[in-house]
Amino acid sequence: MRFSAHSALESARKILNASPLRVAQPDLRIGLESQILLAHHLHTDRVFLHTHPESSLTPTQARRFFESIQKRALGYPIEYLTHKVSFYAREFSIDSHTLIPRPETEILIDKAQEVLHTHDHRTIAEVGTGSGVIAITLALQNPKIHIYATDINPRALRVARQNAARFGVDSRITFLHTSLLDGLNTHIDMLISNPPYIPDTYPLPLSVRYEPQEALFGGEVGSEILHALIELAKARKIACVCCEMGYDQKADIQAFVRDIPHKSLAFYTDLSGFDRGFILQF
Ligand SMILES: C[S@@+](CC[C@H](N)C(=O)[O-])C[C@H]1O[C@@H](n2cnc3c(N)ncnc32)[C@H](O)[C@@H]1O
Repeated sequence: MRFSAHSALESARKILNASPLRVAQPDLRIGLESQILLAHHLHTDRVFLHTHPESSLTPTQARRFFESIQKRALGYPIEYLTHKVSFYAREFSIDSHTLIPRPETEILIDKAQEVLHTHDHRTIAEVGTGSGVIAITLALQNPKIHIYATDINPRALRVARQNAARFGVDSRITFLHTSLLDGLNTHIDMLISNPPYIPDTYPLPLSVRYEPQEALFGGEVGSEILHALIELAKARKIACVCCEMGYDQKADIQAFVRDIPHKSLAFYTDLSGFDRGFILQF
């Protein structure tokens, strides 16, 4: 059976409208998501679908499109279906082994940039690079820096390496399969991280359940890796630590840093006004 783009979109809307995802996410943009997925499978864009509603799908395209609609109906993230995500106005590749970069992490980039404008930090480390969006964005914006980007997940590192090569910054980012900064003996000027910071027992909403567990959960309390990064920076004389954190972790970080000599600790909020990260200078 051949579907026109128009009838495929109609059927997809009905499936999504009756789905568990619609219940979990009442504001789901069903028409938009159907179009994005159809455009992906037809290797075109949404404008083409609007201007060519009569264009038809091959049986293979139709099967793949409806498989992806069925997966989406169960809450599987659209970014994992299209393998694309926008971060800092650039399009990165991702897959299900990497966290889906969040818009609030763009603020971490802005905060790191503020530090880099006033300090001549040339050697940066990123812990937990995932798809590489932080390291790659910083490398693109700061031609003089070199970044060491680590992750415990080799499959995420493969995606990060591909992204770095695509953006032409692979010679300025050294990707390392390691925990924290283990085995990296180079002097580091600045440490940046969006580490896992959710407490292990926190019940995840449907939208996050398909993302890698090691990218989300930070330990029993949640802030364990944040603490480890601060201790590491102190021990290795790293001048600055920029981290994203959970909206409820400000008091925890303040208490942890209280007895550690430092120059300054500044917190920042996200666009919803929630505490979202800190810049710690030694
Ligand atoms: C929240 S994700 C951040 C990914 C990416 N930087 C971003 O902002 O989209 C955290 C990443 O840290 C990695 N990770 C978890 N524990 C780690 C550790 N001990 N050392 C290095 N990376 C770790 C996970 O595999 C995951 O890719």
